[in-house]
Amino acid sequence: MRKKSSNSDINVPENEGLDRRSFLRAGLAGSTALAAGGLAGASGAKAAGLDIPIWSQQLGIDVDALPYGKPSVYESGVVRRSVDWLTATRESSINFTPLYALDGFVTPNGICFERHHGGAAEVDPAQHHLMINGMVDRPLLFSVEDLLRLPRVSRFFFLECAANGGMEWRNAQLNGVQYTHGMVHCVQYTGVPLKLLLEEAGVKPKADWIMVEGGDSAGMNRSIPMAKALDDCIVALFMNGERLRVEQGYPVRLVVPGFEGNMWVKWLRRIEVGDGAWQAREETSKYTDLMPDGRARRFTWEMDCKSVITNPCPENPIPGKGANVLTGLAWSGRGTVTRVDVSMDGGRNWLEARLEGPVMPKCLTRFYLDGWEWDGSEVYLQSRAMDDTGYVQPQMVELQKVRGVNSIYHNNAIQTWHVLKSGEVENVRLG
Ligand code: MTE
Ligand code: CO
Repeated sequence: MRKKSSNSDINVPENEGLDRRSFLRAGLAGSTALAAGGLAGASGAKAAGLDIPIWSQQLGIDVDALPYGKPSVYESGVVRRSVDWLTATRESSINFTPLYALDGFVTPNGICFERHHGGAAEVDPAQHHLMINGMVDRPLLFSVEDLLRLPRVSRFFFLECAANGGMEWRNAQLNGVQYTHGMVHCVQYTGVPLKLLLEEAGVKPKADWIMVEGGDSAGMNRSIPMAKALDDCIVALFMNGERLRVEQGYPVRLVVPGFEGNMWVKWLRRIEVGDGAWQAREETSKYTDLMPDGRARRFTWEMDCKSVITNPCPENPIPGKGANVLTGLAWSGRGTVTRVDVSMDGGRNWLEARLEGPVMPKCLTRFYLDGWEWDGSEVYLQSRAMDDTGYVQPQMVELQKVRGVNSIYHNNAIQTWHVLKSGEVENVRLG
């Protein structure tokens, strides 16, 4: 049985105990009506009655039903997605972070993009070891348990695959920010500073490189200069507060802040110290950049300053004229994002966006263009990031002048979203 309350907008069950709740709801409905002329009105919000839906009338799920929580079923479309034609096999594959559905700068663990050269290895931590050998005074072998007893640090860093945007060099190809920019994630890593482990092993004076090797079937390996190894690298055991996910290298991965994702070796099993680069497959035949003169750039480790608007975007059309949220992400592997500008006219005029803190080095930075109202006209949306080295994110034509069109890796060009009169958004290339 239900009856109308004295405020005729609201239905309440016949239950004395709910009187206070119905009073609160009446107050809420009133404030919606007041706000309807201002910002709420611009967004389409209207003063209206508030129902008492089924979930307000019955008890909810009990605490034992979901010992490990999941997003709402209404968010079940927010998942990593792959592009079928991108890689030859499923084991050597990429999926993409659903950037369009996220806000803030942290990527939830379950939707961090994955890149594997031989599938995600299911490693038993009790049988996994990390070896440090080569030009050291004391070769060492750590169990995961040993690593968990050493001093730790916790730091936020973005990881971007050097191939992020690689399909977009010549033309705008993939119609969605998940695919054009989704090979990036940003996580708080907790682990042992690599410097500490190397000091424990005692690096010989002539050693100036390390080689890091994964325990997956790909045995993926890369060379890293000693200066970087002793700077800010972390042998990570945790991500966003919990132990690493299998896909992200459980139980041990290397964090190489600001450097291309390929160097962040997962399922880390060996660090060899030496006096030269190893010339591994991933730094000779792959992860090099073919330049216009036919030569290939090598060892291009740092991820250049970059940004993208994540709302609106092809997955997030504009729902209507008036108030709308314009937001995106910016990052730089060389330091800290200092400024992001937004253009509505394909880069002729720029407005300064607000950086939403914390703004940290080598970390994703969220930006908003406050007070933006869409008037229903066609717009060519762009964002342009700057970092504390003074570097300004280039337009694609500028990048191509230097790099040509044969590159795959290190595309940090400005992205253009074409907003149609319908509010739909498309990935386009200007110029
Ligand atoms: N480490 C191992 N052992 N095997 C791999 O295939 N892929 C690399 C790197 N580390 C890879 C690896 C590449 S190319 C990238 S971009 C990052 O891991 C991806 O990290 P993610 O899967 O956490 O996104
Ligand atoms: Co990669």
